[in-house]
Amino acid sequence: MRAKTAIILGAQWGDEGKGKIVDVLSGSFDVVARYAGGHNAGHTVIIGGKKFILQLVPCGVLRPDCQAVIGNGVVLDPMAFLKEINKLRDLGVDVDTQLKVSNRAQVILEYHRMIELAAESAPGRQKIGTTSRGIGPAYEDKSARNGLRVVDLLNKDLLKTHIENACREKNTIAQALFGTHPLDPAKMYDDYAAAAEQLRPFVTDTASLLNRAIDEGKSVMFEGAQGTMLDIDHGTYPFVTSSSATAGGATTGTGVGPTRMGTVIAVTKAYVTRVGEGPFPTEIHDDAGAVLQRRGAEFGAVTGRPRRCGWLDLPLLRYSNMINGTEWLVVTKLDVLDELATIPVCVGYEIDGKRTDTMPADVRGLESIKPIYTMLQGWQQSTEQARSYDDLPQLAKDYLYFLEQESNARIGMISTGPDRDQTIELPAFRTALRTLHA
Ligand code: IMP
Repeated sequence: MRAKTAIILGAQWGDEGKGKIVDVLSGSFDVVARYAGGHNAGHTVIIGGKKFILQLVPCGVLRPDCQAVIGNGVVLDPMAFLKEINKLRDLGVDVDTQLKVSNRAQVILEYHRMIELAAESAPGRQKIGTTSRGIGPAYEDKSARNGLRVVDLLNKDLLKTHIENACREKNTIAQALFGTHPLDPAKMYDDYAAAAEQLRPFVTDTASLLNRAIDEGKSVMFEGAQGTMLDIDHGTYPFVTSSSATAGGATTGTGVGPTRMGTVIAVTKAYVTRVGEGPFPTEIHDDAGAVLQRRGAEFGAVTGRPRRCGWLDLPLLRYSNMINGTEWLVVTKLDVLDELATIPVCVGYEIDGKRTDTMPADVRGLESIKPIYTMLQGWQQSTEQARSYDDLPQLAKDYLYFLEQESNARIGMISTGPDRDQTIELPAFRTALRTLHA
């Protein structure tokens, strides 16, 4: 029997609107767990006109009866965490009861940010356009077995020794490579020891908590951050983030085994965006890009950077669905296309004069892609008020049908605006979720 669990993740380069979708779906789940990334993520959720931006805390926390978990695969900046939960407390969210943090999550410390900022602008370094949150250096330390975990942050002696040793090493490296001012380990220790005490009540063995919840028949949603094409293994390397944003990350990032994963739901925009550097085959370089950017308010939730905009890329979506084993798709921001008379959709790639259906592994290959477009007719009317599939204009249904046929997964939900109620749930998806919960 399938466990009552679902992985929900981004199919593209992040910012697909997962926050809203997790929020809508979390109404049918008892627990929501984050499994990768850190406060580089920016989930915007609008409830009754009130705007919540969540970076580290899973969106499930916005439902009072939902338990929220930050899993071991996440890198946690204690200062960012405390800032975020204080904001949520001010907005009336009961984080103290609802939220738990893995004792095995890695900690982002001040020197991770310092090194990242210096490294990104250093001559000769590949500029990734990171969010400058110290995410990459924290995962580097994790893999080098030189990281500090939440459980160690709570141990004062260990914390002190770790900070002293790390500062000695990081200050030397940062000074030699980038000429950066050294950090003061004594001040750092005081700051982090104080933060640790505020963090302590949230910390637990979340792998046990999640597996116990599943044993008890509770439903769990695994909330991805970033997107498939930013995955450290499967994305457009090196222009990626440093964690496993794809479905596999849900198991390693929470300690819940693959046999306990019920279904995979991927969120895709009706077009594509990307922030930061890196290849983007269907990027739009004319005025249409500005239309999508304006209508879609395409500015990063974390850094405020304008997002690059492009047309729907079906080879990318097929690739993403293969890597994630996607069963269901959620198509977001359909309304952003409402004004367009024709909508190009990329149906294949041409590289060096040859048609291919395979996602190239290397940046050179990705940069040489010539997208092959099919022109679909736009519906040129508002979809913002649509509350059921039948409310959508026929041409919008045709667009969605085309997307579904070409992507090897079924559309389960469609979003036509930022509010909770601007969501269309298809009957087959509702039935599948109900069956999952039975
Ligand atoms: P990092 O995750 O800060 O190391 O940044 C690596 C790349 O991932 C950069 O191109 C970022 O813009 C991108 N990125 C990281 N988090 C997000 C996200 O939540 N949405 C979209 N892009 C992201």
